[in-house]
Amino acid sequence: MEKENIRIAIDCDDAAIEMKNTLIAHLQTEGMDVVDLQFNAEGEKDYPEIGHNLAIHIQKKKYDRGILLCGTGLGMAIIANKVESVYAGVCHDVFSAERLQKSNNAQVLTMGARVIGSELAKKIVDAWLNSHFNGGRSLSKVEKIRSLEQQSFHPEA
Ligand code: RB5
Repeated sequence: MEKENIRIAIDCDDAAIEMKNTLIAHLQTEGMDVVDLQFNAEGEKDYPEIGHNLAIHIQKKKYDRGILLCGTGLGMAIIANKVESVYAGVCHDVFSAERLQKSNNAQVLTMGARVIGSELAKKIVDAWLNSHFNGGRSLSKVEKIRSLEQQSFHPEA
């Protein structure tokens, strides 16, 4: 899929509003289609609800990729991975961002605004969006995740 055609959702908690706004402006400058879910618009939500909301949108295939930001990126990754068929990883370096897509085929990138600055976050997002899962030697491993995930979500099946 061409980068410009990727449907991206983004959201954050109180710890990462500035980073979120910087990334939205950056992606729009690059001609990307990015939607700010703003699940915390009333200031009443914490990272679990915000991350869960975005992950459900990914699960329903309303968006192709999601970016979740909080203080560390950790809580957002934990909650997004609780949604079946959604895969999220924390990245604070460019190499990991490439591998998150190429090796892990993860639809959700999380970052922490208390860990890295917005300039590095832009480079990480670019690396992740410019990377694609091509299967190969990684395919069987990703399929194992899907298989084991079924045992966790549907233990009686
Ligand atoms: C603040 O709620 C902080 O815990 C949150 O932004 C995030 O870092 C959690 O993982």
